Amino acid sequence: MTSTLALGAILCGICFVLAFLWQGIYNLFFSPLRSVPGPLLARLSTKWLTIVDLGGYRTLTIHELHRKYGPTVRVAPNELSFSNSECVREIYGQQTNFLKAKIYETMSLPPLGIFSMRGKEEHSQRRRLLSHAFAQSSLMDSEPLIRVHVEKVLREVRSGAHAPLDVMQLFRRAAFDIVGDLFLGQSFAALDSKEPHQFMEDMDKAFLLAGLQWTFPLLYPIFTQLPVRSLQHFLQARERLIGFGHDAFKRYLSTYGRQSGRKDLISKVVSLKSDTGTPPLTDRETFTEIGNLVFAGSDTTSMTLTYMFWELAQTSDWQEKLRRELSTLPAGSGGVVPAFTDLVNLPILDAVVQEALRLHPAAPASLPRETPRGGRLLNGVHVPEGTVVSMQCYTTQRDPKVFRNPDVFDPSRWFEPQSDLMKELFMPFSKGTRACLGKSLALMELKLITATLLKDFTVSLAPSCTKESMVMTDHFLVIPKGGRCELIFSPIKSG
Ligand code: HEM
Repeated sequence: MTSTLALGAILCGICFVLAFLWQGIYNLFFSPLRSVPGPLLARLSTKWLTIVDLGGYRTLTIHELHRKYGPTVRVAPNELSFSNSECVREIYGQQTNFLKAKIYETMSLPPLGIFSMRGKEEHSQRRRLLSHAFAQSSLMDSEPLIRVHVEKVLREVRSGAHAPLDVMQLFRRAAFDIVGDLFLGQSFAALDSKEPHQFMEDMDKAFLLAGLQWTFPLLYPIFTQLPVRSLQHFLQARERLIGFGHDAFKRYLSTYGRQSGRKDLISKVVSLKSDTGTPPLTDRETFTEIGNLVFAGSDTTSMTLTYMFWELAQTSDWQEKLRRELSTLPAGSGGVVPAFTDLVNLPILDAVVQEALRLHPAAPASLPRETPRGGRLLNGVHVPEGTVVSMQCYTTQRDPKVFRNPDVFDPSRWFEPQSDLMKELFMPFSKGTRACLGKSLALMELKLITATLLKDFTVSLAPSCTKESMVMTDHFLVIPKGGRCELIFSPIKSG
């Protein structure tokens, strides 16, 4: 009996090894993608990209691969990365049939929110519903809510002047409080505490978890059964994010009801009538969306601000130009925080923000899509249906043929007429029907905070803030390698 079992186990082991070897041989020599260049290990097995990804260096690694191999690279047996303008419209354009890849379904728990939905019809219905909340008029209504938090940022900078201040944590807390206020009618009071909120820690884990679940679909359920407390706490990050949305939404309803008339954005969602022909969201769908929106709207804005201030800290001439421009604002514009209407058309502020979004996009990584039925011809390669294809804006926005001195922070490039190629390859908010819904909100936050601080302070690097500590790592969203960004603010005028 024992020897039969042993024989069975050995045979299973041999079958497993043979299947593994065959898969590798197929990937290298028989796959329809065999002629596409890429590192040997990437062409052989999906695990190579997973390890790079888990280490936080996916985007930088793929960037280097494009430099080496050109615009088409095989980054995994069934995954291609592209970097040239011709592919942008095909993969991300308004009319594209490339759907988000299946990995998005692991990024949050069901019911899936707008960010993770894959189906075209289902997504466009949801987008129509939510875009009411993001309309420019809703945003202008919300400006007073945003200003309260910008004032708190200013107070913290003022009280921490002349000493190293970790702007990464400061901007994270600010962006988090702003989306909390806009989507839940309640700030998370993160700016009132020095400790990062549990939600922020869970956000960091969510993309890692999605990657783990995607790569180890068989092992993942086993991990969830292991009686190790710290592991279970880690694995439950996505449940906590949804639970957080649930609790906050219930608090919102019990405080304000469904027809609050408040100037926040969630009131536009909960009080929607069926005038669009689509039913309003159920409560469960609403709080899932809230979790997603807080997620989508916090680290994106805060990391853009972090890298923008880091660049400004190294370019005092751009600080000076910006300050001169801000000194032309109408006297008393908005008070300590200038009025957004006065900031919208400032060319230098606009150029500085654009350049930060180009050089340090907060979502720099591949946005994976799936080739539609029948496959497609991309860069002369017939890409079979179901292949994962993507582009990463980190690479498109540093294309040396389109952006001169692509690795240099140079806002002046945005004063020149923009070529079609520049417009095509600049895609920090992605493009087409799946482009960022929160772009206008993000630009408003970026401009209000930058103008408020730069108007009254100079900013410089603290000794701890080095090129090495600011090397980009990413798990879909960016985070500096050192996990902080300490800068020193010095007031320009006394009092
Ligand atoms: C500088 C700040 C931001 C950047 C760089 C950014 C970037 C992006 C990118 C690249 C995508 C496409 C993701 C993909 O295809 O997988 C996206 C989608 C999205 N973003 Fe943003 N985002 C920012 C701020 C915000 C804010 C403030 C919100 C709102 C709270 C927001 C809400 C969304 C939503 C809802 C989607 C999904 C849209 C859809 O699939 O229809 N984003 N964003």
